[in-house]
Amino acid sequence: MRRILVTGGAGFIGSNFVRMVLEEQTDCFVVNLDKLTYAGNLENLTGCMENKNHKFVKADICNAKLVESLLDEHKIDAIVNFAAESHVDRSIAEPDVFIKTNVTGTLILLKAALNKNVARFIQISTDEVYGALGPEGKFTEDTPLSPNSPYSASKAAADHLVKAFGHTWGLKYNITRCSNNYGPYQFPEKMIPLMINNALSEKELPIYGDGLYVRDWLYVYDHCTAVWKVLTEAQPGEIFNIGGNNEKTNMEVVNLILHRLGKSQSLIKHVTDRPGHDRRYAIDSGKIISRLNWRPSVTFEQGINKTIDWYLENRDWLDHVVSGRYQNYYESMYGNR
Ligand code: NAD
Ligand code: DAU
Repeated sequence: MRRILVTGGAGFIGSNFVRMVLEEQTDCFVVNLDKLTYAGNLENLTGCMENKNHKFVKADICNAKLVESLLDEHKIDAIVNFAAESHVDRSIAEPDVFIKTNVTGTLILLKAALNKNVARFIQISTDEVYGALGPEGKFTEDTPLSPNSPYSASKAAADHLVKAFGHTWGLKYNITRCSNNYGPYQFPEKMIPLMINNALSEKELPIYGDGLYVRDWLYVYDHCTAVWKVLTEAQPGEIFNIGGNNEKTNMEVVNLILHRLGKSQSLIKHVTDRPGHDRRYAIDSGKIISRLNWRPSVTFEQGINKTIDWYLENRDWLDHVVSGRYQNYYESMYGNR
């Protein structure tokens, strides 16, 4: 039986990954370590908590002792590191915790992996480490790292550390760099769920700047299948870009959401731009497609419809996450924008 430590498995992508593994792989035991920050939520793991192949541990990846004891106790043979502070706007407001979790936390996991002879370390990185594109071209795995936000700088630092552990001590690793994900259980600080939530409550939809920024959207399940392929099939030391080949401007995405929900475009409000806002991301996924035979399972139109349906069917989940602290966050981020 494969035995993996998934970190950040109560967040958006991590919980989708844990659910996929438990449903599709009967021979995999998952230890799920998550600090349950504002972004971590046990309601994301409904149906997983009772599974005998899943053990949830509330803890910080910066707790070296605990991480090492989990590796020993459960004879872990691979770590998949999703744990991170993940929101660009928060990194602009308060960068410190991004360094702590994304850089120091990754370092602690790397040291533990080395000390305990973990056979593979998968670092879940992001296309944002490459910086921003102009109107043409795509990021390949050879594009130099040129991060622009405190968030992407912290993720790039972690990528460098992972490579350094491979180069210096022979740690067997892979790094995945994915484009923007969307789908079930995404916290409504990120654009798509924030816009769905606001549209459902007839609140203004805050579009940063001209709204012509471009992202390459990938349905979260397809990111998870790509990570699984990398974990189980890739040669160590390889980096893989993962993208959906779905470039859309933010205005296109928001108009689609409004149309699908039958809401008026008058809800759109252009607000002060994000400082240092990256204009365009686009991923060349040629390597993972040709080497690992990975393909996305849905088009953007299918994925966004599934996502909107999920938020409509899970109003309780949404109501819970937007109560309490979320209101303070929203006011501080958008109150004077
Ligand atoms: P998220 O913010 O939804 O979830 C992060 C999870 O990590 C949360 O459950 C949180 O509680 C946990 N966590 C945070 N700090 C921790 C700590 N110190 N110790 C243990 N757990 C901690 O993020 P997400 O969108 O699911 O992203 C997951 C990973 O994928 C991140 O590494 C992110 O950089 C990367 N990524 C995200 C996207 C995207 O579009 N969301 C795209 C590419 C890559
Ligand atoms: O590219 C991968 C990255 O995608 C991940 O590494 C990050 O963890 C993830 O948060 C995401 O970063 P972005 O900054 O691209 O995602 P976000 O959803 O915050 O914003 C998407 C676009 O929408 C971006 O151009 C900013 C814009 N936006 C966002 C919000 C929250 C708005 O116009 N209004 C908003 O209120």
